[in-house]
Amino acid sequence: MSTIVETAIKDAVKMVREAGQLLLQAMDDKKVITKNGTANFVTEIDLKVQEILFGKLLKLLPDSNIIAEETADNIFALDKYTWILDPVDGTTNLMYGYKYSAIALGLVVDGVPYAGIVYNPFLNEMFTAQKGKGAFVNDSRIGVTTNGSLSDSLLGYGTSPYDRGKADETFRITKNVFNKCRDIRRSGSAALDICNVAAGRTDGFFEMELQPWDYAGAAIILEEAGGRITDWQGKNLTYISKSSAIVTNGLIHKELLDAIK
Ligand code: IPD
Ligand code: CA
Ligand code: CA
Ligand code: CA
Repeated sequence: MSTIVETAIKDAVKMVREAGQLLLQAMDDKKVITKNGTANFVTEIDLKVQEILFGKLLKLLPDSNIIAEETADNIFALDKYTWILDPVDGTTNLMYGYKYSAIALGLVVDGVPYAGIVYNPFLNEMFTAQKGKGAFVNDSRIGVTTNGSLSDSLLGYGTSPYDRGKADETFRITKNVFNKCRDIRRSGSAALDICNVAAGRTDGFFEMELQPWDYAGAAIILEEAGGRITDWQGKNLTYISKSSAIVTNGLIHKELLDAIK
């Protein structure tokens, strides 16, 4: 990849780290603006982080485009270089002071995920990856677990909180999976859930509905750590539309897909 892209990624890591300070400062100032529905919130911090990063990222790669969660109209089109940004993944956690949220940023080049940056300022953990170069948390290389059976697996899951119409199906499936695995965790940040699989802290994760900004940054980190991400039909994600997602160490992928059906 060209030097300009390599430099842009390095600079983007610094910018994301800096913007992470805003999430830490937000602990005393939990102002909320309701977006839509009863569970889809946006706070001043989401908007501020997005505003800061938006302008800077466009300058880093002059021909780039950005898809970001809190823009009025999201046009899901991929250019040569497309940044996909979730300014705060885990907004509800941030509002409650739960201290488990991240800034998630992916770079897709010619339609192919090329780099991922997911920063959790509460634990000062910076997850990064670039295609073909491995995945890291801070300076340490990470990799998925080697566990090959669902019954020995610790999983993460998401409840698709914005679509209560899907609650019955979500919890029916979750109960089914719960009865087949070791245990289940619900963190409130899909990007961190995926990074947890990448770092070998869990064996898998599933959620019925995610948007590209929830998974774009973390998906390449997962793949570079040896894991696998598909939709619930086993198909590759497109990065341009909402989708179901299952994320695993690769070894339990089929078993988890079967359990979700
Ligand atoms: C949400 C979180 C949550 C997941 C939701 C996402 P947000 O993102 O990742 O864990 O269950 O589906 O929308 O709204 O906090 O950016
Ligand atoms: Ca949201
Ligand atoms: Ca999100
Ligand atoms: Ca968000």
